[in-house]
Amino acid sequence: MTDRAFVAGNWKMNGSLSDIDTFSNALTARAADISCGLAVCVPFVYVARLAERLKGSDIATGGQDVATEIEPGAFTGEVSGTMLADCGATFTVVGHSERRAMYGETDDIVVAKTRAAIACGIQPIVCVGETLEEREADTVETVLKRQLGAVLDGCSDEELGRIVLAYEPVWAIGTGRSATPEQAQEIHAFLRSQIAERSDTLSRSLSIVYGGSVKPDNAEAIFAGDDVDGALVGGASLKADSFADIARAMP
Ligand code: G3P
Repeated sequence: MTDRAFVAGNWKMNGSLSDIDTFSNALTARAADISCGLAVCVPFVYVARLAERLKGSDIATGGQDVATEIEPGAFTGEVSGTMLADCGATFTVVGHSERRAMYGETDDIVVAKTRAAIACGIQPIVCVGETLEEREADTVETVLKRQLGAVLDGCSDEELGRIVLAYEPVWAIGTGRSATPEQAQEIHAFLRSQIAERSDTLSRSLSIVYGGSVKPDNAEAIFAGDDVDGALVGGASLKADSFADIARAMP
């Protein structure tokens, strides 16, 4: 297992306070034999509760978004990285395809959120990925070059050293149809080659995780790719058993 090994859960808009309590008790009881980095990213309103319940464990708490603004102010509804950190979060998802598609998050906004999170001491899990239409049009590398390129161009080497990159093909999210291990490895190797054009050192240290219908029964095959460092898990992260089984599949 490399230092890059990392499995994060993304609960999306799911859960309750009692779910947080049940999940955190169950996951901490199962995490003893898990040696990769672990994080669970929950809705803002549950971040503090989860961080409190996970205190003393090696499991990190994360959010699912972050404000572009760092300083407090008249930004109704927004949550800053400072507030996330204040609640015990150390990670946050940034640029998820659902936010790009439904809430108009552009590459520039994703870069601004990435940098804002880092400035507040939060590690961003930055999502990139193509739609089915883009894959069928054979424009995957063009799309990923644009999305990743914006982050590479907008961040310093030091900032880039703080990110986790998540490749999430949109057509695999929530569909039960994950990328094949070969598809995942091919794209992860491409992403790492793009990072290497910026910095060879960074390309070797940066975690690139795969997201899109990762389940206990397909995780081991997906993780076999040399450039697949872990997963960003949606549905299967809602239950501690399946999430822990996925993390245990890390080689
Ligand atoms: O951010 C992870 C998510 O997009 C993947 O969802 O349910 O396909 O694992 P799921």
